[in-house]
Amino acid sequence: MRRLSPAGRKALLTAHLVTSLGWLGADLGLLALGVAGLRGADPEVVYPAAALLVTWLFAPLSVAVWLIGVASALLTPWGLLRWRWVLVKFALTTVMLGLVLLLLTPRVRHLGALAGAADAHLRIDLVVPPAVSTTLLLVATVLSTWKPWGRLRPPARRSVPAGRAG
Ligand code: HEM
Repeated sequence: MRRLSPAGRKALLTAHLVTSLGWLGADLGLLALGVAGLRGADPEVVYPAAALLVTWLFAPLSVAVWLIGVASALLTPWGLLRWRWVLVKFALTTVMLGLVLLLLTPRVRHLGALAGAADAHLRIDLVVPPAVSTTLLLVATVLSTWKPWGRLRPPARRSVPAGRAG
């Protein structure tokens, strides 16, 4: 795989940080709206706002984080399958992307359409999933900075060209 220039790598890392931590921020925004809805804030305001947030920010950021995260692994010496912290983040983000696109986004949009007519069961959908995903994103952030657990397999040894050994 082709590696990036130092400037290219910094640009990619900047994009990775802005999108992934932006994703965490959008998630906290959803959680705040969910808690406000349960605590009696006007559902005609809170749930349509959550539907807009999920449609135009949270769901698109999920795709961007996955794509830019994978590029950050494949285009740098970290690789996608070399270090445990990268692989665990990749798995977490992939599961989250599926849940966000297939479950959370349709449910929150439904909640936005119902607004004041939403029952307590549906309202919980804007509290529990964002609380779980915020926790997962905090785990991903800690993994990124501490980079625990080492390599999955030892580095490949460069083969020595014939006649140069010894
Ligand atoms: C597909 C999922 C992801 C993959 C494959 C991935 C991979 C990577 C890689 C390889 C780096 C190092 C980049 C470099 O040194 O140039 C990195 C850095 C980082 N990632 Fe991710 N990432 C993913 C998702 C996330 C998520 C969801 C978060 C947090 C919400 C996150 C937060 C960070 C942070 C804070 C750094 C900077 C660490 C440092 O420079 O010491 N990443 N990521």
